[in-house]
Amino acid sequence: MKARLLEILVCPSCGNLHALELKDQEVRDQEIVSGVLVCTHCQAKYPIRDSIPRFVDSDQYADSFGFEWNQFNRVQLDVPGKSNESENTIKEKTNLTPEKVTGKVILDAGAGAGRFAEVISRWGAKDVIAADISSAVVACYRNIGERENVHVIQADLFHLPLRRESFDIVYSIGVLHHTPNTRDAFREVSTFLKSGGFMAIYVYSVTLGMAYTDYLRRITTRIPKRLLYVLSLVSVPLYYVYRVPVIGALLNTVFRISMHPHWRWRWLDTFDWYAPTYQWKHTYPEVFRWFKEAGFVDIDLPNTRH
Ligand SMILES: C[S@@+](CC[C@H](N)C(=O)[O-])C[C@H]1O[C@@H](n2cnc3c(N)ncnc32)[C@H](O)[C@@H]1O
Repeated sequence: MKARLLEILVCPSCGNLHALELKDQEVRDQEIVSGVLVCTHCQAKYPIRDSIPRFVDSDQYADSFGFEWNQFNRVQLDVPGKSNESENTIKEKTNLTPEKVTGKVILDAGAGAGRFAEVISRWGAKDVIAADISSAVVACYRNIGERENVHVIQADLFHLPLRRESFDIVYSIGVLHHTPNTRDAFREVSTFLKSGGFMAIYVYSVTLGMAYTDYLRRITTRIPKRLLYVLSLVSVPLYYVYRVPVIGALLNTVFRISMHPHWRWRWLDTFDWYAPTYQWKHTYPEVFRWFKEAGFVDIDLPNTRH
């Protein structure tokens, strides 16, 4: 953690208003590696462990993600000159560009291992707060935590330790539908955006063929994570069978696997589909309504973009 993060953090226990004070800190190379953050108002305490301020004391319902992102910590990270899939994905899903993020204060709500925060940081944001409820923050910190403009925090997006209306840009990719209530999560996260700011989200949409995998998920979410991790490896060879025309498409509605050409990415995405406790799906009109209700104007849905 950088000392500068103290300018951004507030106590989530007493109304997101009061500053936090740093105590008992151990500092190495400008990074605060351990210590305690204490609320100047209610005296609530939050530990800093392995350079990450912790505002929750467990992964809660998101333990599959903690496991996933620490197993596959660098699989989706761009490698300059070799792969830029995360950069292309964030452009496509949010319409953000280097010009739009340069110098901005940005919240990545549910950062996982930090693949998108990595892009945003590289594009020149002033500060990127990469928040996640799970131990994915350990992978995220290892990947990008020491960058000057990155701040990794372990926190629940329903109780973020941040000042409301203080971010120029808020984005959340593939996260809100993995919380107990997507709409409530959206509403909560949107309160951290400044008036006139920009917010982008990506949530799963309702599509045909999902019904059966939902049924399968009732079983897979009960399988111990390590066993499911091994079972998901079946997606690696199955990919070649699923590429057979017609048969492949049929099989994929019965037992969905990722069709990513990279085998580790495919394995990760298949596990990511079957493991999470919550996985809601939504329609475009529903999401459009959430933005309207939260007071947004100029709302752009991908299927209305020209
Ligand atoms: C599918 S991953 C997406 C991670 C990242 N946005 C990406 O696309 O690579 C979903 C992430 O949301 C996080 N998450 C779920 N519920 C959360 C909550 N209430 N608060 C913060 N993070 C949460 C999980 O821990 C997980 O890392």
